[in-house]
Amino acid sequence: MKVLVVYYSMYGHIHRMAEAVTEGAKKVNSVVVHMCRVPETLSEEILKKMGALEAQKMFAHVPICKVDDLASADAIIFGTPTRFGNMCGQMRQFLDTTAGLWAKNALVGKIGSVFTSSATQHGGQESTILSFHITLLHHGMIVVGLPYAFTGQTRIDEITGCSPYGASTIAGSDGARMPSENELNAARYQGKHVAEIAAKLFK
Ligand SMILES: Cc1cc2nc3c(=O)[nH]c(=O)nc-3n(C[C@H](O)[C@H](O)[C@H](O)COP(=O)(O)O)c2cc1C
Repeated sequence: MKVLVVYYSMYGHIHRMAEAVTEGAKKVNSVVVHMCRVPETLSEEILKKMGALEAQKMFAHVPICKVDDLASADAIIFGTPTRFGNMCGQMRQFLDTTAGLWAKNALVGKIGSVFTSSATQHGGQESTILSFHITLLHHGMIVVGLPYAFTGQTRIDEITGCSPYGASTIAGSDGARMPSENELNAARYQGKHVAEIAAKLFK
C-alpha cells in the first residue's frame, strides 16, 4: 500500500503539515509513505525577493515529484498554500502535466485528499481545498476529507485552522505563526484516516 504526500511550500508551513500527515499515515500497518515536492516555477531571484530562500533550505532534501509517482500510489494527499483562495500556481502547473495520466485513467479509483495553509483565518482555506477537489474528481479519484471525528476542528478556545474538507493551518499575515499542535494533530489524523481507508480498499 503506497501513500504519497505531494506538496508545495514557500515558507515551511505546508512542509511542517506534510511531515505530520506523513507521521499519521505511517501509523497504519502495511502502508509505505513517501513525501515529495512539486517543481518550483519561480526563479531564485523572485524567491529571494519574496523572502523564501532561507525557509526553503528546510525542505531542500525532499525529492521533487514526477508525474508517474502519482500513478504508482494508492492514495495521494496533496498540500498547497492558499493563493487568492485557490491552490498555488506551482501545484496547478504540476497538475496540468497530468493529462497523460487522465487519458489512461491512471488515477481512477485512487484516494485523493487535500490540506492547506493561509495567512489569514478566513482567507480561503475551504475554497482552496474544495476547488482542488474538482481536479481530483476529474481524475476519478475518491475524495477524502477530515471527519468531525477529529474533534479538534470544533474547538473555539483557540484560533485554529481545519474543516471537514481537510487539515489546515494559519500562517499569520507575516508568516510567523507555525502550525499549532491542534493543526498538526489534524494533519496526523488526516494522514492516518486516508491510509486506513486505502488499507481497507486495496488489501
Ligand atoms: C500570491 C499570494 C497569494 C496569497 N493569497 C492568500 C489568500 O488568498 N488568503 C490568505 O489567507 N493568504 C494568502 N497568501 C498567503 C499564503 O497562503 C501563505 O504565505 C502560505 O499559506 C504559507 O504557507 P507556506 O509557508 O507553506 O508557503 C498568499 C500569498 C501569496 C504569495
